[in-house]
Amino acid sequence: MTFLAHQGDLPRPQGSSERPPSPVPGTVAVVGLGYVGLPTALALFGAGADVVGVDTSPQRLDAVARGAVDLLPVHHAQLACALESDSCRFTSDLSAIGTADAVIVCVPTPVDAHRRPDLGPLSGACAAVVSHAVPGQLLVLTSTSHVGTTRELLVEPLAARGLHVEDDVLVAFSPERIDPGNEHCTPEHTPRLVGGAGARSTRAAAQLLAPTASRIHVVDRPETAEMAKLWENTYRAVNIALANELADASLALGLEPQRVIEAAATKPYGFMPFYPGPGVGGHCIPCDPHYLLSQLRAARQEAPLVTAAMAANAERPALTSERALALLAQDAVPVPGARILVVGVAYKEGVADVRESPALEIMSRLRDAGATVAYNDPLVPSVVLGGQELRHTDAPHERSWDLVILHTTHPVHDLSWLEDVPRLLDTRQRRPSRRAVPA
Ligand SMILES: NC(=O)c1ccc[n+]([C@@H]2O[C@H](COP(=O)([O-])OP(=O)(O)OC[C@H]3O[C@@H](n4cnc5c(N)ncnc54)[C@H](O)[C@@H]3O)[C@@H](O)[C@H]2O)c1
Repeated sequence: MTFLAHQGDLPRPQGSSERPPSPVPGTVAVVGLGYVGLPTALALFGAGADVVGVDTSPQRLDAVARGAVDLLPVHHAQLACALESDSCRFTSDLSAIGTADAVIVCVPTPVDAHRRPDLGPLSGACAAVVSHAVPGQLLVLTSTSHVGTTRELLVEPLAARGLHVEDDVLVAFSPERIDPGNEHCTPEHTPRLVGGAGARSTRAAAQLLAPTASRIHVVDRPETAEMAKLWENTYRAVNIALANELADASLALGLEPQRVIEAAATKPYGFMPFYPGPGVGGHCIPCDPHYLLSQLRAARQEAPLVTAAMAANAERPALTSERALALLAQDAVPVPGARILVVGVAYKEGVADVRESPALEIMSRLRDAGATVAYNDPLVPSVVLGGQELRHTDAPHERSWDLVILHTTHPVHDLSWLEDVPRLLDTRQRRPSRRAVPA
């Protein structure tokens, strides 16, 4: 069965991890089994599809095989089921792409040290998909990237191989909206955008992805979906920068930011609360707007508001470490040898992900200033700072600290002991900063 031949109605979404009769014809290959690809593969498996997961990292494949991966509990249950099934397999062999009826690409789209888009993984994955593509296949790109990526990396190279979209193969873009660690908003409860390179592509991609989403919103072409994804995350980046600026303004005016935000959020329209923090982390907010900015720069189109917001977000960890040092200075605690604990180093609550986490820069800066830095994060056994491994500190309440920095609080964190610490800096400004000697 191929997607070009299949002309069924859209299947209804499935919420159960049991395997119903498959709404998805044939086999689906998911290329890239990270935070996005693995739950996507499991959702399709849960919806009844035969799945082959392809990843070039042996470490990742080993972690998947052992179930040692950062997933919501519901997805862990699906993984256990998938690992026991003949209908799901995981491999590093890229030629498996050629055995599938549909292929979903979910590889990373990071930025480099200069915050320039790094298209290496995506170009590599798409080149593999193009070279292994067979007539009748449906190919869906889900990685966040600049507008036009789907045509540049799939449609045009396929045509150069003699595979013409809509006639020989189907191609679509459908951005991922997963919010890792958020049990209230899983992909299965979130609408999904689909923009095909033609009507047949759109219909087939919508049919394939319907079991992974609450509903499918079809757009006119891949570029609209690509821009919508960039718009969504740029919106968040700008509003986070604004929340930081207005929280600092509130503090300067003697007000508690949390109370001000709670009050403003009672307005039932025209306001969505964003909260201050130590900076932005993870694979989306610090990276995605740079894909847009880079493309706009090349087109000589200015975006000063987005540029300023991204710069403000990037400076936030440095500002946070300056505030930490200022708290010590106010009590004349010498920085060399000062014992500083950072609570939570993941970039957000409920995940073990430290990619782009502001905590890493904050800890590096404080250590460079001479402080003795430790961290407590039950989800993150160790991090690497300046080439050196730093391990999670258990039972932090049994030690004494000159300063505790609240960076990320996981649901498993018990923070009752913080009442006894001499100095506290809550980077999310939910608790007022505390000093041993009141000002
Ligand atoms: N993580 C999120 O919260 C999130 C949310 C929405 C969208 N996205 C987007 O989804 C995409 C994937 O992000 P992620 O967080 O899952 O990335 P990730 O780094 O967690 O995982 C990507 C996986 O792809 C594998 N990989 C890399 N190159 C490959 C190749 N050429 N062939 C096969 N496998 C390859 C890696 O080994 C890794 O296991 C990105 O574009 C990201 O912007 C991420």
